[in-house]
Amino acid sequence: MSHILQLSPYTPECINSDLEAVAPVIRYWDLGNPQVLPAELAKDVTVVATKGDLGVPPALMASLPNLKLISVYGVGYDAIDLNEARRRSIAITTTPDSLTSAVADMAIALILAGSRRLVEGDHFVRAGNWANGKLGTGFDIRGKTVGIFGYGRIGKKIARILEAFDCNILYCDLKPDADHPAGFCATLEELAEKSRVLVISAAGGAATRGMVNLNVLSRLGPDGLLINVARGSIVNQEDLIKALQNGAVGGACLDVFEQEPNVPEPLVSAKNVILTPHISSATLETRRHMGEVVIQNIAAWLEGKPLVTPLQL
Ligand code: DGY
Repeated sequence: MSHILQLSPYTPECINSDLEAVAPVIRYWDLGNPQVLPAELAKDVTVVATKGDLGVPPALMASLPNLKLISVYGVGYDAIDLNEARRRSIAITTTPDSLTSAVADMAIALILAGSRRLVEGDHFVRAGNWANGKLGTGFDIRGKTVGIFGYGRIGKKIARILEAFDCNILYCDLKPDADHPAGFCATLEELAEKSRVLVISAAGGAATRGMVNLNVLSRLGPDGLLINVARGSIVNQEDLIKALQNGAVGGACLDVFEQEPNVPEPLVSAKNVILTPHISSATLETRRHMGEVVIQNIAAWLEGKPLVTPLQL
């Protein structure tokens, strides 16, 4: 009988029990997250239910001889070996439309928090500094140029929301978007140079690894604000720390990091940085919908029906 190997618990809790109603579930974390699954359990596993940032570690995938479907709770698939999935004819599903709005909202929240110094202000009040002085000014995003690196579903949603702030939207992606060709920048360097705020909403993986480097950050400049709601791997974290320390870039609001959950001390102690723990899709409504789509895909596969949200490999 087909078993589901679930790599990590989902939120809300009801999604975990709903998943168990679909087929027997092996809870990977209860086994202590072994590198490979013991053969007697592995032979029954036809489905892996995972998360975007977890993917499927290569050794684990290799230990599952009958794996046929990887269902991702999230949109990222950079932690899955796609070539291997293709070679073994393993289908992959993600939850693309479920989290677009929540992640876009988080990008806007970080833009405003950074430009208006929200977190600094909170610390300022709590530390009792208000009676002794003023926090100082932030900056308006109204009328400013916001550059979006990665103009997919999430990037476009961010752009649409920012229209309400009268921002000038530029973007960089593989090709110009038919609906907004004028905003296209062919290179990330050009995008950074022209932007006051640079938002990263691109896919992670080899193609984008380390692309936001010292050169890009310096072009964003001393007044520039970097926002990352995509993947930590896209930013060269050492370069970012240098740029923040020497004032080459003004500030950064980061929801994702190179080695989660580890955040380097220089970022933790920097005043011009806001840090959140990879929570861009973490609203109850969004997470519930993501979980439902994971279950719908698995149920469809088990019943031999077309997948609901397959990734085109
Ligand atoms: C995603 O969907 O990939 C999110 O970043 C969660 O990992």
